[in-house]
Amino acid sequence: MATNLEGNKIIAAVLTAGVTFGVAGFIGSMLVHPTRPHHAAIAVGGEAAAPAAAAPAAPALDPIAPLLAAANVQNGQQIAQRQCASCHSFNDGGRTGVGPNLYGIVGAKHAHVDGFNYSAALRAMADKPWTYEDLNAWLHSPRAYAAGNRMSYAGLANTAQRADLIAYLRSISPNAPAP
Ligand code: HEC
Repeated sequence: MATNLEGNKIIAAVLTAGVTFGVAGFIGSMLVHPTRPHHAAIAVGGEAAAPAAAAPAAPALDPIAPLLAAANVQNGQQIAQRQCASCHSFNDGGRTGVGPNLYGIVGAKHAHVDGFNYSAALRAMADKPWTYEDLNAWLHSPRAYAAGNRMSYAGLANTAQRADLIAYLRSISPNAPAP
């Protein structure tokens, strides 16, 4: 019986919401001529409900390039040793580990190490060079940058630390363009 009661409550809630939105929409259409483009913005009750159901878009990242000049390369190297070196090497000609060697990564193409078993997600970007902003987005959230990638790393949320890390990657990238 309890489940029936719950069911009734839910149906009642849905009906109430529907009636409320319907009335709001009706009032809205009386207040504002329906052919006016501002109709959607003003008919609060009916129209505002739809966007709330959609997933909120990820907030855009601030550009990292302006922070690089003042970034701390030594600190970036320490972050790389602590958070990346278990999978990546950073020296010229360094070994392939769980992840590819990262020497020269700034300005190199995505999936830049020949013979490394990259995911389809990164291989699909193989014609694009890694820019500072690409690296910023990737290191902030690998999953958001390239869904289906194989790098088991949650991301580095701290913007100043990302700037330090990217400044370090730049320091080991002889072909890096100016930020
Ligand atoms: C658990 C292992 C692991 C850790 C930790 C890790 N990576 Fe990775 N990384 C990978 C793998 C695996 C790939 C290849 C991903 C793919 O093919 O989808 C990769 C790819 C990359 C690439 C793209 C390389 C290319 O040739 O396009 C960059 C850049 C990168 N990692 C940087 C970093 C940095 C910087 C850190 C530390 C903040 C880090 N990674 C931490 C495993 C790791």
